Amino acid sequence: MEPTKTLAAWQSECAKVQSALAEAGVETAADLPTLEEVRVRFLGRKGALTELLKSLKDLPLEDRKACGPQGNALRGSFEAALAAARARLEDAADAASLKKDAVDLTLPALRPPRGRLHPLTTTLDAIAGIFRRLGYSWAEGPQIEDEFHNFSALNIPDDHPARDTQDTFYLQDLPRLLRTHTSNVQIRAMEKSKPPIRIVCPGRVFRHEQIDATHSAVFHQVEGLVIDEGVGFADLKGHLQAFLESLLGSSTKTRFRPSYFPFTEPSTEVDVKCFFCPGSGCPACKHTGWIEILGAGVVNPAVLRAVGWDPEAWSGFAFGIGVERVAMLTHGVRDLRDFYANDLRFLRQFDEDLV
Ligand code: PHE
Repeated sequence: MEPTKTLAAWQSECAKVQSALAEAGVETAADLPTLEEVRVRFLGRKGALTELLKSLKDLPLEDRKACGPQGNALRGSFEAALAAARARLEDAADAASLKKDAVDLTLPALRPPRGRLHPLTTTLDAIAGIFRRLGYSWAEGPQIEDEFHNFSALNIPDDHPARDTQDTFYLQDLPRLLRTHTSNVQIRAMEKSKPPIRIVCPGRVFRHEQIDATHSAVFHQVEGLVIDEGVGFADLKGHLQAFLESLLGSSTKTRFRPSYFPFTEPSTEVDVKCFFCPGSGCPACKHTGWIEILGAGVVNPAVLRAVGWDPEAWSGFAFGIGVERVAMLTHGVRDLRDFYANDLRFLRQFDEDLV
């Protein structure tokens, strides 16, 4: 191709581009978009520097050799200036966003309201925890139950007063009831397994009771059942004594009083010396000086027979602990209704129970 451009013309264009570059303000560009505009103006497809470099080919060969390096040097220094400016602007943008989003780590945090376990929950956990350490495992059973598991299998005869609607909540139109004790879990657990067995079963129970300071229509029990070879009343006393000492301290006065339950023989009820009076008589202990916290006894052979376990080969004991009664004693609560009133002033007293 014939040269169409003279050296002088190219040099003068080159000088123009050079001074335009000097005035383009690469070093002072305020932001990245502005810098990009400058780059496109010179190095875009139709940019001034691009055009200048393209027009090298229109020079005579000799001149091309001299002007080529000059043009490339111009582009090199422009690109270097662009890169430096870009780095400067990016650093500045980073610094600005760090400043904008800065978090004051010294600012005291807002305290979220702290939840806490209900005193009945901590009491229940404490009771179950002691028995776990004695090797008992955990079992649960239904709150809605049938007469067989709540009564018949436990040797409670059809005409027993506990079955009366005055004591038991029956579900309408169904042969179902709300369990009156956790002893139903004894039956359900034995039905599901083979001897030996050693379980605790915590749960909610329901009775058609007149509500007062020591009675509620809904309350909690922890049932225990141990069946093995040659287990008897001495084992029952040993386990319950260990439990009471661990829960209430070894100096606490307790008494085992003879009692009657259809599902145990012999049977006993365990009282703890009233913590409130103490012992002289007050409303919390119904003026007896003692508070009953559990019923227990040696499992009646009729109960083992009801689940098909051989009473000649196996024997054991069972107990049912009243969780509310224990919580009243260990927390110094005189009226059981306080546990259900959901009054935060009452509940906040037990913050320190949280572990
Ligand atoms: N179920 C009895 C009650 O609710 C307590 C109990 C359980 C007694 C196990 C003896 C054995 O009063």
